[in-house]
Amino acid sequence: MTSLELQGTRLLVTGACGGLGRAICVAAARAGASRIALAGRDEERLHALKASLLEEAATRSRTTAADGEGDNNGLSLSVHVYDQTVPAQNIALVQNVYQTMGGIDVLVCNAGITRDKMAKNLTPEAWQEVVDVNLSGPFFQSQTAIKLSTGAPAAPTAPNWTSTSAAAATATASPVQAVPLLAATAAPHKLQRIIFITSIIGHTGNLGQANYAASKAGLTGLAKTLALECARSHVTVNCIAPGFIETPMTEAMPEAARAQVRERIPLKRLGRPEEVAQAALFLMQAGYITGQTLHVNGGLAMQ
Ligand SMILES: NC(=O)c1ccc[n+]([C@@H]2O[C@H](COP(=O)([O-])OP(=O)(O)OC[C@H]3O[C@@H](n4cnc5c(N)ncnc54)[C@H](OP(=O)(O)O)[C@@H]3O)[C@@H](O)[C@H]2O)c1
Repeated sequence: MTSLELQGTRLLVTGACGGLGRAICVAAARAGASRIALAGRDEERLHALKASLLEEAATRSRTTAADGEGDNNGLSLSVHVYDQTVPAQNIALVQNVYQTMGGIDVLVCNAGITRDKMAKNLTPEAWQEVVDVNLSGPFFQSQTAIKLSTGAPAAPTAPNWTSTSAAAATATASPVQAVPLLAATAAPHKLQRIIFITSIIGHTGNLGQANYAASKAGLTGLAKTLALECARSHVTVNCIAPGFIETPMTEAMPEAARAQVRERIPLKRLGRPEEVAQAALFLMQAGYITGQTLHVNGGLAMQ
């Protein structure tokens, strides 16, 4: 990978502060992306991530600059606070980012949660929150990005979309405010890639993860449909389905369960976030792959 492969590219990465989100941002910055919108719930952590990405870019630049001075390698980062359980905030997020960066080339829908319980014990709230974050959020984000890219108005199709999740109910006073759309005369910017981070569980199912498996399987179906609908605009839509990767999400598993999983993985280890980021960089540059899922799972499930 040369440092120029993503030069000039504008990305929006949701769940940017999480294990996979951070790795995708780091990899994209190293590959020359010029603008990255960092989205998440925690403003402080987002600013800390921004500072660390800029510091790394400056170090890279100093190492290569003849005078040892350097800059941020042309990297520009913005921070966006939102709650993915709230449909209007997903729409406003994409509108704001579009406005801030002057367009979005690559949308990486990475934010996701688990709320595990055996199906018979799953509460309506735990079902709804997982579906809201893992499936509805990426739908509203990609729908808005597609609309903006094709010059269509990006307001919600149904102004009364609501979420029943508890988190959404407490999130009405969000810092995210919709900004006016770009002037009607501005040429619509061309979206190129949508990447959904799904999961092996959406393909295999898993004990205690009915909500998670259903949301990720739904996301896979959404990707295939959007891939068909967007093909004529040359926008590709693909999924990355990680297996078990070393991030805070899997660190939350009891060590005994992690050891069992490790034993079942043919490559005998959990994946590293950088290995998922590598797959994301590949899909960002792949113009003739659409509607597909790239499995990054150490051989745990061979599709
Ligand atoms: N790690 C794995 O083994 C694994 C395997 C398969 C699939 N995945 C998928 O990979 C993606 C990233 O997972 P990860 O392992 O990096 O998890 P993580 O470290 O827990 O990060 C999850 C991210 O999602 C964001 N998020 C959660 N709820 C949100 C909400 N309501 N609004 C906005 N953002 C929200 C979090 O934002 P805050 O920073 O604001 O909390 C966090 O940055 C997820 O979609 C997950 O399902 C992970």
